[in-house]
Amino acid sequence: MHPLSFMTKRFLFYVVFLSIFLLVFSCFTLLRSSSSYLIPESVLMLVLANKTSELSTQFRDHNTHHLDLLPPPPPTISRISVRRNSNSKKDARCLGEGRRKLCDSNQALLKVYMYDLPSQFHFGLLGWKGKKDQIWPDVRRHIPSYPGGLNLQHSVEYWLTLDLLSSNSPGVVRPCSAIRVTNSSHADVIFVPFFSSLSYNRHSKLHGKEKIGQNKVLQNELVDYLMRREEWRRGGGKDHVIVAHHPNSMLEARRKLGSAMFLLADFGRYPVEIANLKKDVIAPYMHVVPSVGNDSAPFEDRPILAYFQGAIHRKDGGMIRHKLYRLLKDEKDVHFAYGSVRENGIRHAGRGMASSRFCLNIAGDTPSSNRLFDAIVSHCVPVVISDDIELPFEDVLDYSEFCVFVRASDAVKKGFLLNLLRGIKRDEWTKMWERLKQIAHHFEYQYPSKQGDAVQMIWEAVARKISSVHLKLHKENRFHRAELIG
Ligand SMILES: *[C@@H]1O[C@H](CO)[C@@H](O)[C@H](O)[C@H]1NC(C)=O
Ligand SMILES: *[C@@H]1O[C@H](CO)[C@@H](O)[C@H](O)[C@H]1NC(C)=O
Ligand SMILES: *[C@@H]1O[C@H](CO)[C@@H](O)[C@H](O)[C@H]1NC(C)=O
Repeated sequence: MHPLSFMTKRFLFYVVFLSIFLLVFSCFTLLRSSSSYLIPESVLMLVLANKTSELSTQFRDHNTHHLDLLPPPPPTISRISVRRNSNSKKDARCLGEGRRKLCDSNQALLKVYMYDLPSQFHFGLLGWKGKKDQIWPDVRRHIPSYPGGLNLQHSVEYWLTLDLLSSNSPGVVRPCSAIRVTNSSHADVIFVPFFSSLSYNRHSKLHGKEKIGQNKVLQNELVDYLMRREEWRRGGGKDHVIVAHHPNSMLEARRKLGSAMFLLADFGRYPVEIANLKKDVIAPYMHVVPSVGNDSAPFEDRPILAYFQGAIHRKDGGMIRHKLYRLLKDEKDVHFAYGSVRENGIRHAGRGMASSRFCLNIAGDTPSSNRLFDAIVSHCVPVVISDDIELPFEDVLDYSEFCVFVRASDAVKKGFLLNLLRGIKRDEWTKMWERLKQIAHHFEYQYPSKQGDAVQMIWEAVARKISSVHLKLHKENRFHRAELIG
């Protein structure tokens, strides 16, 4: 061995050893050091948020006062030290500021004021009962569960409300798209936390001697409540966000509240002056089949060419299902079955989609359905045959990269659909499949919410809409002063 190379190796060994020693030493001193100058503030905040359960109780009691977002103060280290060694009311305040740092108003896309509606409008519909005067569940400890099965497809209201509540809960780690503020004057939008789809699903029928169903009662009360609010009158409701995802939800109230921004599944049952893309946001259904994750079957391992499972009794646009059924029912590599996906069929449908290359999404009695989203999370390339469908987040997602669109008038031509699908070969299909894997997480609802999931995508879509709302409101203000005099 060359002696020089030996020396070099020895030298290197010492250098490495010394640097490891220095690293360990500096970590040790950092941890012991009472000053926190060198620890990134956000890291410290996480640790602190977790250790201060008694503080957070205080924090809750005082939150009306402290949680509000003032223009964020410049981040200073000293605030942290105060928080570390005192245990008074001041701490609650600092924790509030800690949150602000974790999710400050510069980072947050959207400042949201949420009405403290009585719980019968939201979690009360899930059977949740708080303590006396408690309106909201403590989302750090327990979240009331939403009924499963097909109810879940319209649970948008639930996930958004939970996300807002958690935006003020130290210790819940979530992205910073939306943050709840307690002073409505500081908010970009006003959120109406009414679980309208659940109210429709659970309370449309009359019980006992009722003359008017609970779902209608709630909607009427909601309208009264909103009309009395200063926040509603200020902007004529334009900056209000109302979730009405089930196509039949909010039937009583939708006309009276039509100036607000609705979060909808589609516009199928709305007149255009009440709901339209200019002011409203299309939100995805929550999928009901399980996500396949990233190890989904490639082209070769999907024996079924096209998959459809759906209900037969459909009006209007649904006629096309009958025609397609007649065209496709005898094809060997096509699964075309009628029968609505009831709960025990959900897993079956999931398996079917995960072993199909294409999943048909055919207009039913409404232009949209959860089937599209079930297909996406099964990484089964959706074939959309629904001329009036509106797609969530289409301003930021190009669906043609991972869906095939076919006009209804073409789809019912003999041979058209199958020729088209058989003509899409392995490479082209795989490109769409890869894209599906990239975008599928945009359609996941979860708590706590994660970066880029459905909850965050919805807040971002609301933020993109709201600037035009503010433009309109500001324009209306132009002659406000002159009118006061005149
Ligand atoms: C808080 O601590 C618990 C365990 O005590 C841990 O599971 C959790 O991830 C921690 N949360 C944060 C935000 O650090
Ligand atoms: C809300 O904010 C406005 C404007 O900053 C302020 O004038 C008002 O006093 C605040 N209201 C409360 C209840 O803090
Ligand atoms: C799945 O794969 C896509 C891209 O191929 C990636 O963006 C995504 O993070 C992956 N998801 C998981 C859960 O690994």
